[in-house]
Amino acid sequence: MKILVTGGAGFIGSAFVRMAAAEGMHIEMCDKMTYAADILRVDSVKSSISVHTADIADTGAMDAIFSSTMPDAVVHFAAETHVDRSIMNPDEFVRTNVTGTATLLRLAAKYKIKKFVHISTDEVYGDLPADTNLKFTETDPLMPNSPYAASKASADMFVRSYIKTFGLPALIVRPSNNYGPWQYPEKLIPLTIAKALLGEKMPVYGKGDNVRTWLFVDDCANGILDLLKNGAAGEIYNIGSHEERKNIEVITSILDIMKADKNLIEFVPDRPGHDFRYAVETDKINSATGWKSRIEFEEGLFRTVNWYLDNKEWLLRKKSEVEGFVKALMAQYAKGKQSN
Ligand SMILES: NC(=O)c1ccc[n+]([C@@H]2O[C@H](COP(=O)([O-])OP(=O)(O)OC[C@H]3O[C@@H](n4cnc5c(N)ncnc54)[C@H](O)[C@@H]3O)[C@@H](O)[C@H]2O)c1
Repeated sequence: MKILVTGGAGFIGSAFVRMAAAEGMHIEMCDKMTYAADILRVDSVKSSISVHTADIADTGAMDAIFSSTMPDAVVHFAAETHVDRSIMNPDEFVRTNVTGTATLLRLAAKYKIKKFVHISTDEVYGDLPADTNLKFTETDPLMPNSPYAASKASADMFVRSYIKTFGLPALIVRPSNNYGPWQYPEKLIPLTIAKALLGEKMPVYGKGDNVRTWLFVDDCANGILDLLKNGAAGEIYNIGSHEERKNIEVITSILDIMKADKNLIEFVPDRPGHDFRYAVETDKINSATGWKSRIEFEEGLFRTVNWYLDNKEWLLRKKSEVEGFVKALMAQYAKGKQSN
């Protein structure tokens, strides 16, 4: 099967590319190479994939890639993904996540793609109260709270409309929070590891009580591969684990593994619209493909921390790139106002 993978130089997309290439699939990878991309992530399979540098919102460039490669399937990861950046600059999220997805759908219909796998997020459902065992199912309404989540929910609606209006054989995947090697250190786990290495204060939003369900990135990539092969067109599938942790518990576990000083933790004003808890039911993907998450959080976190310690130079180089953004963000939240 020939697959066009968008966002393949990103964190989850690259894990998928490494896994699919190892299975012998023909991969055409397309990425705009934004700040979040790194081609090093697919270095181990570079001889068996083709790489196209292009913006998914650029119809001409994407049409040229579809017509020259004629893929059987599209697996669409490309997105602006950082919630804090979506609060600072929502326009870029509309452009890539909404216009970019709509562009790909139009081309997928034009080139009669046999399967379109759209990677969404559990954040489209909004959040859950702390004191319940409720979990989101695929039929729950979309109640996005951040500009990032709103842009992803909009993209999901476009996918739905192409299924209904044009009969596009598309399906939507909604993963929960991923963690693992190669994640950009603007996200909680690699940022915490980098700060612990440097002995820097680590800002924690609110009291660190927000709960996330943590999914090891290889488990997620595996689930997406299963759905590419056996997921039904027209359907929506959650992908998640049962590993719910408060942010403060995640940070404390990292500091324990690294034997670092817990006094580095510093509580800062919460981010606007910060979702409290996410959790998803995963019975549907399990029935459709037999998939379930395999890596327990303690094992995955231990492997992850050790990967970053082994790849310290990469981690600290990437962290220095985001320094200016993080400082501006903290100053803005401290002032308690949003830019537009
Ligand atoms: N990371 C998570 O925990 C998580 C959880 C649920 C869902 N998701 C979804 O999974 C997908 C991948 O997430 P990730 O964490 O790997 O993101 P990432 O930020 O690491 O990577 C995104 C990739 O998309 C590329 N990209 C951005 N704009 C583009 C454009 N206009 N054209 C082409 N390429 C572009 C970037 O260069 C980058 O390589 C996203 O759709 C995200 O919404 C992520």
